[in-house]
Amino acid sequence: MSNKHHAATGNWRPAFHLSPPQGLLNDPNGLVYFAGRYHVFFQWNPNACTHGAKSWGHASSPDLLDWTLHPPALQPGERYDSHGCYSGSAWVMDERLWLIYTGNVRDGEIRHSYQCLAVTDDGIHFTKLGPTLEQPPAGYTSHFRDPRLWRERDGFHLVLGAQRNNGSGTVLHFHSPTLEKWTLRGELLPGSNNGYMCECPDLLTLQDRQLLLFCPQGQAGTGWPWPNANASCYTSRPQDSAVFDLPQALDYGPDFYAPQTLHGPHGEHILWGWMGRPEQPDTPSVADGWSHCLSAPRLLSWHDGELSQQPHPALQALRGEGLLLTNQAIHGNWQHAAVHGECAELQLSLHSEDASACHLVLRQGQHCHTRLSWLPATAELVLDTRHSGSAQGRISRAPLPAGNRLQLHLLLDRSTLEVFAADGTVVMSACIFPDADAQGISLQAEGDIHIEQLAFWPLNAMPVRMAASGESLTA
Ligand code: FRU
Repeated sequence: MSNKHHAATGNWRPAFHLSPPQGLLNDPNGLVYFAGRYHVFFQWNPNACTHGAKSWGHASSPDLLDWTLHPPALQPGERYDSHGCYSGSAWVMDERLWLIYTGNVRDGEIRHSYQCLAVTDDGIHFTKLGPTLEQPPAGYTSHFRDPRLWRERDGFHLVLGAQRNNGSGTVLHFHSPTLEKWTLRGELLPGSNNGYMCECPDLLTLQDRQLLLFCPQGQAGTGWPWPNANASCYTSRPQDSAVFDLPQALDYGPDFYAPQTLHGPHGEHILWGWMGRPEQPDTPSVADGWSHCLSAPRLLSWHDGELSQQPHPALQALRGEGLLLTNQAIHGNWQHAAVHGECAELQLSLHSEDASACHLVLRQGQHCHTRLSWLPATAELVLDTRHSGSAQGRISRAPLPAGNRLQLHLLLDRSTLEVFAADGTVVMSACIFPDADAQGISLQAEGDIHIEQLAFWPLNAMPVRMAASGESLTA
């Protein structure tokens, strides 16, 4: 659908997702819990809605709800990061907060990637310490970025996205006793089917398994497990094994990339991703001076051996007056006066008696709608954003566990839709740009579909305020 009938509007700025005050946001960076607050940094071009020289934007919150936007933590400009402070990670050591990031330097067509350190005592003002790893090891190109660092008893460990000299992508593992000299331990992904570059690796231990997240760039977007050419995926292995399982898509939707996790104060792992995609043309919100946002925080766990992502329970505090329904048969079309809106949470348990399809229609208006279809016979979930409003949409498909029941959990936030299906083991995220009047939600059944349970809440906005200059952190 064309965006002709849209003047610039403010209707798309998310109410409970972090978005940039102006300019373009991409990857979440340096996710860390420090001095009583969750810190979320992000790739940010504050000057334009384009992928220019990136800074690290910075937001923090004591509870994942009440956010403060701080001045940028890192800005490009040194000999080792003149063309961008690219993605990286954070850790806490000796009561200080440390960052490691990729300093991107362009010398005509030649790219240099330096892995650089920065540190802060107060959590706001960072001192750059320069490169800790100056260049890629022999056998790898300068597509060498997005360091994820953690500390163990034997020293520091680092995983990095890399490209082999033969043009294939992989993830490298380094070790250093002191942060001064790094030794390459090897490749975590030995195969040659991981695109031309693996961006944004993250390695963590989730309960009893090691989980590796990465983004294989340039994988053909022809189907499962790669929903598009810029997919984010995961693979895991038992802690005592050297071999990872076959990778799976982390999110089957069109707009989810570069995820990273935060190790929370209770041992939990919380994931954020960039809701956008590298090859996306200008988004309609550019007319309002901003582009892209982060996903909602998602809690990770294993569910019957599959990775499960669920909206973080902290978001429940945003719920308005809810509606709970049980046992409703759908004859053709189903609607309820209280179930509509642009900022909402919906939980649905459906049962099919040989139905061929059940369509959940969201953000429905006169000129647009977004459609999520359950096809029980082929055990598929199909998200159609081709008629969602302004911006070009597409059809995305996800495989479901077979069966005649479907459990769905959805978050709608103005220009975002996140679908958590089958206990969070099948996730789809999309950016949509509907008309302001497109608030309708309905179900359409082809055959016998039963709503076993439906819970619905309008969601309130989370407060985000700009820190005053010179302000210090308070928990
Ligand atoms: C992923 C990515 C990273 C890089 C950053 C630059 O979206 O390309 O590999 O560090 O974005 O903004």
